[in-house]
Amino acid sequence: MTNLAVDICGLRMKNPTMLASGVLDETGKSMLVVAKAGAGAIVTKSIGKEPRVGHSGPTIVELPQALLNAMGLPNPGIEAYAAEIAEAKTAEVPIIGSVFGGSEQEIAELAKNMQEAGVEAVELNLSCPHAKGYGAEIGSTPEMVETICRAVKETVTIPVFAKLTPNTSSIVSLAKAAEKGGADAVVAINTLKGMVISPEAKMPVLGNRYGGLSGPAIRPIGVRCVYEIYEAVSIPVIGVGGISTGREAVEYLMAGAKAVQIGTAIWKEGPEVFGKICREIQDFMDEFGYTKLSEMTGVAHHGRT
Ligand code: SIN
Repeated sequence: MTNLAVDICGLRMKNPTMLASGVLDETGKSMLVVAKAGAGAIVTKSIGKEPRVGHSGPTIVELPQALLNAMGLPNPGIEAYAAEIAEAKTAEVPIIGSVFGGSEQEIAELAKNMQEAGVEAVELNLSCPHAKGYGAEIGSTPEMVETICRAVKETVTIPVFAKLTPNTSSIVSLAKAAEKGGADAVVAINTLKGMVISPEAKMPVLGNRYGGLSGPAIRPIGVRCVYEIYEAVSIPVIGVGGISTGREAVEYLMAGAKAVQIGTAIWKEGPEVFGKICREIQDFMDEFGYTKLSEMTGVAHHGRT
């Protein structure tokens, strides 16, 4: 009998799928829907200190095999969001609080607020590619990643996950810096910075001009990043980017991910995609004789030089 359970830094998940930050996670009720659909853990919307309306529209462009978004980190602010977490926690799956801020002090403070709100772990958004002064703007150098992770680790007792940007010459250096700063796990990857121009309108389509690309088109980049990071750090890697089937989740696991996050697939398939992906992972394991997820973790590295 196959077993999909996994433990990430003490978080016990019934399966390796997590809701990625940014999709269906602005309210407690929507997070409950995703948990009920089978997600093994939930990552909240990225939350900041104060309420924020985000970028002006259009905020999403649908492309073949991808979405380009520039939401601009809209959120109600940490104080108001605590009630959403309280509701999400009734789901009985681990809740991971995602935070963004403009300095290490601000991020550490938000992580503490998240801990007080009752989340089981905190995910640091060091990678949003389209919000001025936040995300990738402060998470693109190893020095800053290390400093921020250290500041957060000195402030909270729950596990700290660092979500990294692929918009860099070396995501491996960022992952090593996160580990050096004390992060308990790294999450790879956030979206790729991109732009779509309307030739008819002679202007970029997104209100913010630039956005972040997600969905199937970025999966090979995500898999490559996880593969490289797995060889460079000892802390767990959580893979994200373009997963909508069990087989695609297994790709990430074999690259070295201990768990995977799913976001854009919900756009097309709804929250039921979590149950479907888990059944497909199970089928794959049955077909190829795996009884535990750990038997697949990183196997794509074996025999390679
Ligand atoms: C957003 O809410 O603007 C997206 C967050 C991200 O890309 O990290």
